[in-house]
Amino acid sequence: MPEPRIGVVGATGAVGTVTLECLRERGYTDVRAFASARSAGTRLGDLTVEEATPEALSAGDLDLCLFSVGTATSRQLVPHAVRGGAICVDKSSAYRLEPGIPLVVPEVNGERAREHDGILANPNCCTIPLTSALKPLHDAAGIARVRVATYQAASGAGARAMERLRATEPGDADLAMDWDYDGEEFDEEAKLRAETQKILELPALPISVSCMRVPVMIGHAESVWVETGEPLAPDRARELLGAALTLDDFPTPGRAAGRDDILVGRIRRDPTVQNGLAFLVVCDNLRKGAALNAIQIAELLLRARVTA
Ligand SMILES: NC(=O)c1ccc[n+]([C@@H]2O[C@H](COP(=O)([O-])OP(=O)(O)OC[C@H]3O[C@@H](n4cnc5c(N)ncnc54)[C@H](OP(=O)(O)O)[C@@H]3O)[C@@H](O)[C@H]2O)c1
Repeated sequence: MPEPRIGVVGATGAVGTVTLECLRERGYTDVRAFASARSAGTRLGDLTVEEATPEALSAGDLDLCLFSVGTATSRQLVPHAVRGGAICVDKSSAYRLEPGIPLVVPEVNGERAREHDGILANPNCCTIPLTSALKPLHDAAGIARVRVATYQAASGAGARAMERLRATEPGDADLAMDWDYDGEEFDEEAKLRAETQKILELPALPISVSCMRVPVMIGHAESVWVETGEPLAPDRARELLGAALTLDDFPTPGRAAGRDDILVGRIRRDPTVQNGLAFLVVCDNLRKGAALNAIQIAELLLRARVTA
């Protein structure tokens, strides 16, 4: 199989640098790094950063582009890469909810990836672990209602937010809500709800979300309360979740950081409702929450593509 020619667009950012790392770990060698004119010419290991111009991305010499550049820039640049013939996996929210564009977590709805027309969307970094946990529970007992509280690391807000946290005295660190607020909820909360409904193909599933940024560098944690249609004992839920994710009695961001898998633990009955379960999921938001999931989406398609 010929080596796929891969462009990492946004390569200097929090997600982009981890994307380069994950590609290296998985043995890909034909990789180019793109970012804005600001960092064109700088070195990232043995790569020289190129400016992500429409001309460069549409030149026809890339099989795959992994975008992590922010929503507005994705809207500008992704169509050029598609025009050049690359499969594009976009990690911003630009395309996630667009009808006809697959929004994919390979372990949850990987079969949807085949329906792409050049663009595939990578979900929000909290949606990926949440849907990974909800899917086996839904298959077993039907999910009727979900409540989620997130505790999201600074790296979820990008490389600058990581620098700001590094420069903060631990005693001065505070919680932050740095998302757009519409007077009722943050856009992050609306994204988590709508993306979960799309991926699970449950458009009417009631989901209440409360997002919080915590002074942690890497690793998003989510407390989840689920009501199921049928009774589901915590021991059975533990079996189901353990088959899909990695069981950990007390998962924390520190334990998840640097790992490729999603940790799940504290699985117990929620005594406030009839068929209620409560648990905690934690994952590395830069790896499975972003870079790794996007590579896994592409891997569902690359083999067929380069041999065609
Ligand atoms: N951080 C996470 O956990 C996470 C998880 C899932 C999804 N995402 C999404 O991924 C995207 C990037 O997030 P991030 O955290 O990596 O942000 P970041 O650290 O701020 O990095 C942004 C990257 O985009 C590049 N860029 C900005 N404007 C550009 C332009 N006009 N042309 C080309 N490149 C441009 C930057 O390059 P320069 O160095 O040249 O400025 C940098 O490489 C966002 O849409 C975010 O929502 C992030």
